[in-house]
Amino acid sequence: MVDWLRWGLVFTIPLLLLALYDFFQRRHTLWRNYPLLAHVRWIMEDLRPYARAYLVEGDLEGRPFNHQQRALVYARAKGQLDSHPFGTELDVYSDEYEWLAHSMAPNAQAPSEWRVDVGSRQCTRPYSASLLNISAMSFGSLSANAIMALNKGAAAGNFYHDTGEGGISRYHRSHGGDLVWEIGSGYFGCRTEDGAFDPDRFAESARGEQVKMVEIKLSQGAKPGHGGVLPGSKVTEEIAAARGVPVGSDCISPPAHSTFSTPIQMLEWAAQLRELSGGKPVGVKLCVGKPHEVFALMKAMHETGITLDYIVVDGAEGGTGAAPVEFSNRVGMPLREGLILMRNALVGSGLKPEVKLVAAGMVHSGAGMAMNFGLGADWCNAGRAFMFALGCVQSMKCHNDMCPTGVATQDATRQRGLVPMEKAERVARFQRHTLHSFREMIVAMGLDNPWQITPAHISERQNSAQSDSLDHIHRFLEPGQLLDSPESTPYAKAWAAARADTFAEAV
Ligand SMILES: Cc1cc2nc3c(=O)[nH]c(=O)nc-3n(C[C@H](O)[C@H](O)[C@H](O)COP(=O)(O)O)c2cc1C
Ligand code: SF4
Repeated sequence: MVDWLRWGLVFTIPLLLLALYDFFQRRHTLWRNYPLLAHVRWIMEDLRPYARAYLVEGDLEGRPFNHQQRALVYARAKGQLDSHPFGTELDVYSDEYEWLAHSMAPNAQAPSEWRVDVGSRQCTRPYSASLLNISAMSFGSLSANAIMALNKGAAAGNFYHDTGEGGISRYHRSHGGDLVWEIGSGYFGCRTEDGAFDPDRFAESARGEQVKMVEIKLSQGAKPGHGGVLPGSKVTEEIAAARGVPVGSDCISPPAHSTFSTPIQMLEWAAQLRELSGGKPVGVKLCVGKPHEVFALMKAMHETGITLDYIVVDGAEGGTGAAPVEFSNRVGMPLREGLILMRNALVGSGLKPEVKLVAAGMVHSGAGMAMNFGLGADWCNAGRAFMFALGCVQSMKCHNDMCPTGVATQDATRQRGLVPMEKAERVARFQRHTLHSFREMIVAMGLDNPWQITPAHISERQNSAQSDSLDHIHRFLEPGQLLDSPESTPYAKAWAAARADTFAEAV
């Protein structure tokens, strides 16, 4: 047989077989009606995110993060030029525009770095936190190489790495970066065989030197109140070891914790965790839902005398490895409103000096950090921005193990491209350059430190003709105002409905 005929058959026979299969299969209408040709649709669906990002998307388009936001993180992570030519591309007269107030007398003498002391009087092992840290993301949703790069970056830059609810894996331990151990409703890494909390297993890991703080996960913005399942097929030996679950069986995080069902019980458990950890700070993380529940927590702190050391507020705009779209799109309070509510709850009940407030949700720049500080945050956490530093291209395939950059997959071949040593430098660089830009904002605002930023320093456009500062748009309570005169606040009804002994609304 001549060569060209042989090669022709090599290509056409498989295509012919595929066409025959398409024609007779019963699952896909399009395949039956348009054998072979219909596959183009599936190929285009797969390529859609890349075509959009590389060919169609403008600089200010693309969600969750637009091209300009991603490019900023990439540039800072790589140590490239991060300045912008010619002027802003934002429409400063659109109602999405907001800005910070600079001063006529910038403060060039502002310190070059700040840290936050975390740990109420009830802690014997307080922690000095950086102002920008890695938000909770588990081994399981992220790859082993990603976890190693994040942890090594955290060690190099002296900031913390939150484990996420999937337990502490050997990849978290390989480079010695500070860990915040997050405990979700699955109690991974500290559970009994039937999924209950195991105090002995908790104490064993929590007392380790690398664990600096403990975080109770109540909810996350992308899927508040939902819980989650890691299917048995994904529960590899390593994931099983980190989580303390059997290999190959479904790994379930129920929507609710089994250790508590009232605000008081939650605080008693937090106190137990603090003691078992050897006196380390204990905080909670949540996306705010019902305001009266937040106030119930404040009342419970007053009634028991047990204070949390910090509260992380995650916005509804927050990320996830996988979540039902209804939850991502329609459940939970956005960060801005959640942060203001929590700030008012803490300040209004006189607890803010003891309990630090943390903001998470789309943090990726110095300006974003400054806005959060202005609304009461003591520090910020970032999740997806650190994923960009690792090389994430926002292809949105984190949920199906097909991540092209090795960040959110357990597939060893896909992880190969992510070299932890190389990416750790980018993680540390992104954090350092973002803090540098944040400091430059403090200087421009003429302040001595970031905690001096107030809502009056942030303005927001309401329509093309009007704008106002946030202290005029939102209510910000005075210290103790909820205790002294709740009726003078917009929260009078929710405050009255809050009880320390139940999350239910008192009528
Ligand atoms: C891949 C991925 C996994 C996450 N896993 C957790 C988790 O285990 N626990 C948690 O509290 N939040 C988790 N989150 C939410 C982040 O910690 C963070 O709160 C949220 O993404 C908002 O921050 P960002 O906008 O900077 O990403 C995850 C987010 C992502 C993107
Ligand atoms: S590159 Fe990977 S981590 Fe980033 S969005 Fe795509 S799948 Fe998720």
